[in-house]
Amino acid sequence: MKENKTRKTKGKSIGMYREMLIRYVLPQRKLLMGLTLLLLFSISLQLVNPQIIRFFIDTAQGEGSITALYYAAGLFIVFSVLQQGVSVAAAYFSENLGWKTTNKLRAELVEHCLSLDMSFHKTQTSGSLIERVDGDVNALANFFSSFIIHLFGNLLLMIGILVLLYRENFWIGLVMTVFVVGAIYVIQHIRRFAAPVWKKWRELNAEFYGFIGEHLEGTEDTRANGAAGYVMNRFYELTRRMLPVRVRAFIGFCLMWSTSILVFALGNAAAFIVCAILWVNGQGVLTIGSVYLVFYYTELLAKPIEKIRTQLEDLQKADASLTRVRDLLATKPLIQDGQGAPLPSGPLSVEFSDLSFSYEEDAKTLEDLHFRLEPGQTLGLLGRTGSGKTTIARLLLRFYDPEFGSIKLAGTDIRDCKLHELRRKVAMVTQNIEILEGTVRDNLTLFDDSIADQRIEEVLMQLGLADWRASLPEGLNTMLSSGGGGLSAGEAQLLAFARVFLTEPGLVILDEASSRLDPLTEYRIEAAITRLLREKTCIIIAHRLATVQRADRILILENGRTIESGYREKLAADPNSRFSRMLSVGAEEVLA
Ligand SMILES: Nc1ncnc2c1ncn2[C@@H]1O[C@H](COP(=O)(O)OP(=O)(O)OP(=O)(O)O)[C@@H](O)[C@H]1O
Ligand SMILES: [Mg+2]
Repeated sequence: MKENKTRKTKGKSIGMYREMLIRYVLPQRKLLMGLTLLLLFSISLQLVNPQIIRFFIDTAQGEGSITALYYAAGLFIVFSVLQQGVSVAAAYFSENLGWKTTNKLRAELVEHCLSLDMSFHKTQTSGSLIERVDGDVNALANFFSSFIIHLFGNLLLMIGILVLLYRENFWIGLVMTVFVVGAIYVIQHIRRFAAPVWKKWRELNAEFYGFIGEHLEGTEDTRANGAAGYVMNRFYELTRRMLPVRVRAFIGFCLMWSTSILVFALGNAAAFIVCAILWVNGQGVLTIGSVYLVFYYTELLAKPIEKIRTQLEDLQKADASLTRVRDLLATKPLIQDGQGAPLPSGPLSVEFSDLSFSYEEDAKTLEDLHFRLEPGQTLGLLGRTGSGKTTIARLLLRFYDPEFGSIKLAGTDIRDCKLHELRRKVAMVTQNIEILEGTVRDNLTLFDDSIADQRIEEVLMQLGLADWRASLPEGLNTMLSSGGGGLSAGEAQLLAFARVFLTEPGLVILDEASSRLDPLTEYRIEAAITRLLREKTCIIIAHRLATVQRADRILILENGRTIESGYREKLAADPNSRFSRMLSVGAEEVLA
């Protein structure tokens, strides 16, 4: 039963290797061929060299002509230099091959990660994804660049040596064949101890990167709360778990290393014993040169055996990485692209019907929501912390799909639209703005070159950012560092506004978007935002009532349910409405 299972997994992993090789390595077949040729050349050089030495020794011993000796020595030097040249060229080709193939995989992984749902990203730390995209892919570099070639090359070298030894003498060939089979068996057996430990090591490593990434991101909070000691405590705990695994992995490695040295020493001894017996018993069967040749070939055998071992070891390491990489690639986004129903340009109507949604199974986050917003209208969305306002925004962008009911934009169910089309037409400004490493222009256009500078300048001007723009030392080319270094939170928020207005969306969601602006700046951009929103439908999520004064309609949420909705002016005029009570006492008290 157990055996059956192993066979099955083996079958699966061979399929997995084949699939990966075909997908990533086959397109590089020119490089692959070049590498194969170089390898064959290098093998023949390695096999020929000892023959020259043998000729040299025997000629010198038999007091042959000195010119022949010169030629032999010269040839030996030429071949040796050639062999070095071939290995440099082979290293160049195989690095190239490794980089090209792994980079393709890396790019696919990054693209895939970007396409995965928010629900996936919430469950993964960025550190563990980095370990996947870089650590695991690096572990695969060798597998891609040289595994097949080196494995077969070394097998070929080994067979070549054995054939030449058989040619020398049947018994020598036989003894060395037995030695090779025995050596591979022993080394392979020991490898089994080490392999699971390596797997564990890589898993711990991924956890470690995740930990470091998470805490470097949160340095400010950690320090502000005086939690550095606790973080370090967890760090020590983690490293304490890593130490024994590392030690075991290293001991496994040492054990393999010393075993192979012992095994090769035994091989040399065996070769000497056979030669000695043949020397004593069969006069003239062996020359001194031939004994040296046998010794040399036996030494040379160590190389392919070692190489095959390290290749198999790398394969073992690659196995774990490959499985993880494949699992990641096989993780399908739950949010699937629609068939591509078009969304009209200009302001979009928004309609929620029967909408229910929950992040986790038992707790409903949104329940039975109904509302309709006409094109060009502005909705003020109010509600206490945790009432589900941001969730509505996420559903509109299809970061999640509703459990029941539907969301329609301009009468089209958003599940029928292409995601990129939807996200181009619906724009959101939140409190958390990511400033990316790049110029001011890159940060505004998000690397879209087709947006003209003039248009950027216009938007900045309209947002009242002309002064700020003028203060930039290199204009739009001024570099910003990731994390928003050099920008105040308010400035970053203004940039986020500009970003949205450059994309000409049909629906804009402002999620507490002006909360980081000081009252004066907010007041200053007020007019600009009104102008910019004129041709757009807008949902403003706010805690402060002043912010929703521009809204045509109001919707108040409580625990994911609508507790009030209607036209702002009507609600404000109705003394019994929640909204008018909020207005009379001030939002902070009601909503806080
Ligand atoms: N990714 C998530 N996974 C699980 N639960 C979540 C997730 N995001 C939010 N929630 C829960 O859903 C509920 C609604 O959250 P939401 O962010 O929509 O509130 P909000 O009205 O925007 O609050 P705030 O005013 O604080 O921004 C909260 O109870 C929150 O704990
Ligand atoms: Mg929110």
